[in-house]
Amino acid sequence: MHIKPIRLRNLILPSNVAMAPMAGYTCYPLRMLCQKLGAGICFTEMVSANALKYNDQANRRLLLTTPKERIKAVQLLEGDPGIVERAACGELLSEFDIIDLNMGCPVPNVFKSGQGSALLSDMPRAAALIRACRRSGKIVTVKFRIGLKEDEPVAAEFARMCEQAGADMISIHGRSRSMMYDGAPYYDQIQLAKASVSIPVLANGGICNCKDADKMMERTGADGVMIGRYALENPYIFAQLTGRPVREDRYALLKEQEELALRHYDEPFALSYLRSIASYLMKKRKGTKAYKQKMYQCGSLKELDLIFRAAFAEEVSL
Ligand SMILES: Cc1cc2nc3c(=O)[nH]c(=O)nc-3n(C[C@H](O)[C@H](O)[C@H](O)COP(=O)(O)O)c2cc1C
Repeated sequence: MHIKPIRLRNLILPSNVAMAPMAGYTCYPLRMLCQKLGAGICFTEMVSANALKYNDQANRRLLLTTPKERIKAVQLLEGDPGIVERAACGELLSEFDIIDLNMGCPVPNVFKSGQGSALLSDMPRAAALIRACRRSGKIVTVKFRIGLKEDEPVAAEFARMCEQAGADMISIHGRSRSMMYDGAPYYDQIQLAKASVSIPVLANGGICNCKDADKMMERTGADGVMIGRYALENPYIFAQLTGRPVREDRYALLKEQEELALRHYDEPFALSYLRSIASYLMKKRKGTKAYKQKMYQCGSLKELDLIFRAAFAEEVSL
């Protein structure tokens, strides 16, 4: 695919390859890894705008960023424009340049409370949320699915609504809510949406290698791609797409992640985070099941390191 920067008002994303927001994964250390490997933008996982009022440790972890993160993008989940505006204008998000609104989450509890993918069938409220967010003066992006059901797509109409309400960029997950995370993306729906707007469009869903990224770009005409699960399995995909040179093997990447996690989080959280990302990194390898079991039984970083060394033995150069 053709790699190019994307301009969002006064901000330039260095590449048109994005790391998708992923709950439980895209915290600060992982975003720094993806940035280093070539991702042009990495979003925090979804953060409940309403829960920001608690200003607790969980929120502080989710909102952690530093000046080393070049593009700071936080994703909010909320269905009430007043709450979104308060969050967007508030002190807690002051370091973030970009607010992404989640309008795609398919989870039943989220849907029932009128948030996430429920907004696909309530465009006036979705537009009010975008306008409310814009009042913060920040760059606003929206991530949504092609519709609630694949035989009732709304992608193009929703994309136009986003642009008219003031969104600076949209990311489209080419699956419907009812498809959850399975099945081929509907390229034609992303293509129709892209053709309906002049703001940048990122296309997401089912990209598992560079060829898939090429196919996504060709079939949709999108400005860039967004990669989710496969980037957890193979974060080198960002380097492969952008041509960025990388020297570190998987074990070295994990050690870097450990260092960052320990610098910013307490040890129990660091341990649980490292287990999660290592589980993805060792997918489809010999003995993965046993290593995973051991990881979830071990209680210290020292023990975890021994498992990493064994699991990534062929890559450990020490
Ligand atoms: C474990 C997990 C957590 C996710 N969390 C979020 C989230 O917080 N916000 C969001 O917009 N999408 C979330 N998603 C959806 C992804 O961003 C992405 O749209 C989806 O996985 C499709 O891309 P893929 O086929 O490349 O994985 C999540 C997906 C998974 C599997």
